[in-house]
Amino acid sequence: TTRPRIFSGMQPTADSLHLGNYLGALTSWVALQDTHDAFYCVVDMHSITVEFEPEVLRRRSRATAAQFLAGGVDPERSTLLLQSHVAAHAELSWVMTCLTGFGEASRMTQFKDKSQRIGADRTGAGIFAYPMLMAADILLYQTDLVPVGEDQRQHLELTRNLAQRFNSRFGQTFVVPEPYIVKQTAKIYDLQQPDKQMSKSLPGPGCLYLLDDPKANAKKIRSAVTDTGREVRFDPAEKPGVSNLLTMLSALSGREVAALEEDYTGKGYGDLKKDLADVFVEFVTPFRERVQALVGDTEGLDAILARGAERARAVAGETLAATYDRVGF
Ligand code: ADP
Ligand code: NA
Repeated sequence: TTRPRIFSGMQPTADSLHLGNYLGALTSWVALQDTHDAFYCVVDMHSITVEFEPEVLRRRSRATAAQFLAGGVDPERSTLLLQSHVAAHAELSWVMTCLTGFGEASRMTQFKDKSQRIGADRTGAGIFAYPMLMAADILLYQTDLVPVGEDQRQHLELTRNLAQRFNSRFGQTFVVPEPYIVKQTAKIYDLQQPDKQMSKSLPGPGCLYLLDDPKANAKKIRSAVTDTGREVRFDPAEKPGVSNLLTMLSALSGREVAALEEDYTGKGYGDLKKDLADVFVEFVTPFRERVQALVGDTEGLDAILARGAERARAVAGETLAATYDRVGF
């Protein structure tokens, strides 16, 4: 295949994806399948860098894969895998760790933020080593392009540095990946705290989990925080709540924000919320059914993941063998 290779992952940190994961990541993953050779990975090994429960992790990893599939990831065209199924991730990550400077890793802002938030005593060394594992994830597949949000830019920069460093010291081995900036990726904010992004790692009260009861989510949408004005206008600085609702409605309905602003001329926030709730429920109802069917068929889901792991192992194994050879193993 001559299609550019793309790698992207998501942590199984919750039972359900939220609307931000779906609109900000999953929809572009699905679109990219037409033009790219995609590897989509449930990065369960990254999830054990913070506290976890084995049975919960096992359930969430499967549920996350099921949601990728329900959202449109096609396991025939793309490679869908659980990170822990492919041992090469751990193996290459050690080589990457030894190639990384201690100071270099200490300067990663996500490490600094997380260790500050969790407290030095409870910070595992896995949080420190996280970017080196991420570099291994990407480099194993000779990835050309990595879709990244702002929060992962620094990690991708480290990945690029490590690839270049390895190549110049040991000989050409890794493709140096480029960031793939997904145009117009919707950033989705919490319905109750529209200055904060929806997040499953740091969930707020207005997070829309796709697998929650649709009626409860519709109610959450109808009670979203707006402002004291009346005009439905896209203005993230002055009207973050309303703008967030418009972003969601635009992404789910396929209508441009400008067209929506016209639709709501002379109408109120209540109309906008009601319409968004309807469109959301319409989208999420069949999505939930697909997820339930996938999760209910344990054997079928495991077979899809086994096929993905097998395909991934073939590619990753080649890269790892070349790497080991170059370093003298
Ligand atoms: P979370 O913060 O929910 O744990 P992750 O860090 O696992 O999410 O991110 C998974 C993917 O979803 C990433 O590509 C990330 O950019 C995207 N994403 C997460 N939250 C949002 C959001 N609120 N709006 C848009 N995209 C998001
Ligand atoms: Na995040």
